[in-house]
Amino acid sequence: MLVSSEFLNGVLEALYAAQLLLRDAWHALGLSGEVAQQPAWPFARRLAAERLLLEPGHARRVVVTLACVAGAIALLSAALILAVLRRRRIWRHGVLAAAAALLVFAPWPASALLWAPAVPSSLHRAPAAFSAQSIVQGQGVFAQHCAQCHGADARGEGPLASQLAQWPPDLAGGLLWKRLEGELFWRIRHGLRDARSGAETMPGTPALSDQEIWSVLDFLQARAAGRMLRDMGAWERPVRLPASTLDCRHGGQRSSESLRGQRLQLVLPAAGVQALPQEDPRWVTVVLGAVPEDAAPECLAQERALLPAIALLLGVTPEEAPGHSLFVDKDGWLRARSVPGQAGWSAGDLICRTEAAPAAEAPAPGVEGLLRRMDADRMRLVRAGYPH
Ligand code: HEC
Repeated sequence: MLVSSEFLNGVLEALYAAQLLLRDAWHALGLSGEVAQQPAWPFARRLAAERLLLEPGHARRVVVTLACVAGAIALLSAALILAVLRRRRIWRHGVLAAAAALLVFAPWPASALLWAPAVPSSLHRAPAAFSAQSIVQGQGVFAQHCAQCHGADARGEGPLASQLAQWPPDLAGGLLWKRLEGELFWRIRHGLRDARSGAETMPGTPALSDQEIWSVLDFLQARAAGRMLRDMGAWERPVRLPASTLDCRHGGQRSSESLRGQRLQLVLPAAGVQALPQEDPRWVTVVLGAVPEDAAPECLAQERALLPAIALLLGVTPEEAPGHSLFVDKDGWLRARSVPGQAGWSAGDLICRTEAAPAAEAPAPGVEGLLRRMDADRMRLVRAGYPH
């Protein structure tokens, strides 16, 4: 294949950064305002990265066209230099003709595939980290404002669903990651309309604050992750450890985000268990739950919101959560899970891996094998085709 997925990811990342740059430059020049405290995207369309990922033939055309455009720009610069150096005109004309040929013969992709409709908040990112508090707050907002249509479990079967002109979609599946979060924000804020008739299919939520809308998106992501884990035993998309405050032997009170760069093992002790797991220099042990009186764990998670947030991510009730353990990799992604009653770890406990996971030679046994696989296979979150 001409375009490897790694290369394509690089192109997508660059295209995303270029659009952000354009947005911010537009804003800095005073040509566009702000929406929800971030610069507004000024155009009615944006580049459709999701198409690039889904259709390799289209991706190839885009990459070859980008290469042709880059080549043409290089040739035009060369022509300029030749003009400045006052070289013979024939050279300059030759170079210009080559640039024109590149542009004419580039396999320009169909514009319908290249663009997606955009809204002013298309490129917005959630202003705060995915956190336990935000997930729990979002759960409350969802129960109050959304569950009547979308159902308490977000699968689209709320009590009002059957009376609506259109059935609400299942928000506990992969849908959320197919969208840019800024576009989901916009839809929740302003509602949705039927593309043909223009009739409202979902009402907007003018009463919610921006922060409440971001929190409901955090909740939905946690809910969808839990559902995926329960149904398929794995996560198709990487999920972060929700940020929360920890009380650590070294460093006192600190945010879990400040431990980025180290592996964490999050332990939820089962009820009545007297001994905490052995600490290990290969990771930081974080205990969530009651600890024996004389124990002083490496880090203790004290925020009340973390238990319900982790339970959502695991797809269990808060009562069923004790007894689980989770490994977090150095980038902050939740990667492996052990269930109540399980003894020890192995590479088979990974619940989140890339498709291109390196085929472990002969996997090391036990937790060492797990850690090696986890470190070798770095996760990237992709939203609407854009690596984030
Ligand atoms: C009156 C019923 C109703 C309420 C209340 C409601 N929704 Fe919806 N929602 C719908 C319907 C119907 C759709 C599908 C509409 C469509 O595709 O045109 C939808 C679609 C969505 C989508 C999918 C958007 C997409 O990009 O495809 C999201 C996300 C969503 N709703 C979130 C929420 C959240 C969050 C709330 C609460 C703040 C909420 N909804 C409140 C009925 C509702």
